[in-house]
Amino acid sequence: MFVFERKTDLNQFVNQAKADGKTIGFVPTMGALHSGHLALVSAAKECCSKVVASIFVNPLQFNNPDDLKKYPRTFESDKIMLEDAGCDAVFFPAVKEMYPNPDEAEDVFNFGTLETVMEGASRPGHFNGVAIVVKKLFDLVQPDKAFFGKKDFQQLAIIKALVKQTASRIQIIGLDTVREEDGLAMSSRNRRLSKQEREDAVELSQALNIIKKNKNILEPASLETEAVNMLSKKFRVEYVQIIDGHSLQQITNWNQSNYPVVCAAAFIGDVRLIDNLEL
Ligand code: PAF
Repeated sequence: MFVFERKTDLNQFVNQAKADGKTIGFVPTMGALHSGHLALVSAAKECCSKVVASIFVNPLQFNNPDDLKKYPRTFESDKIMLEDAGCDAVFFPAVKEMYPNPDEAEDVFNFGTLETVMEGASRPGHFNGVAIVVKKLFDLVQPDKAFFGKKDFQQLAIIKALVKQTASRIQIIGLDTVREEDGLAMSSRNRRLSKQEREDAVELSQALNIIKKNKNILEPASLETEAVNMLSKKFRVEYVQIIDGHSLQQITNWNQSNYPVVCAAAFIGDVRLIDNLEL
């Protein structure tokens, strides 16, 4: 597997692959890889002749400097995992390589109401930071298909909107959340949990499953309130929202959506976890 730290080296690889008529599948990540990321690599391998991953902890998408500082960085083990998964190349740039001129104004995107809710409301500027880096990575890797986990449900909607807005032909593939045996959604942040926090963290997915079970019995608002009450014993809840999976807007009545999804964000200790479930 090639490891490229420079855009120019990645560029050569991409140009050669294109000249050879290869298709490129792209898996953008921030590292600290787990089975969820490897499922994205496997899916990319199944339908593309070359798989490129990126590992870049993008400072522009962190609205909390402490979260950026504490984000796990495990490049050596990530590299082994990607190689074992059959990845062809990984792009691992330094911040200076991606943002050579910090004074240069970056793109400002407008995703309308897709970005004003949930993660967008809780983390101002987050999705603009995601869109800036994903657009740069797409321009460099020029993939045919790019693979994202549905755990970041709102991010997936934003990336699809980005592709539309930029008239890109990249096909965006969303894959189901990969979970631990007890149901906790896999996340790079899970490795920051203490033993006790890890045990308690499972309640986030349990709360979402309770909502799913009671969907036909109670209205969305009552289910959201029950979930918040349940979670508040161990978590500092930011939101539990039942939304329409297309518009991402909260629904108050089941008739308002043919694709309802419950999304949640909550802190356990100082670790912020998100999860969602299609209902
Ligand atoms: O989901 C992630 O890991 C990041 O938001 C992404 C898409 C790699 C952009 O930095």
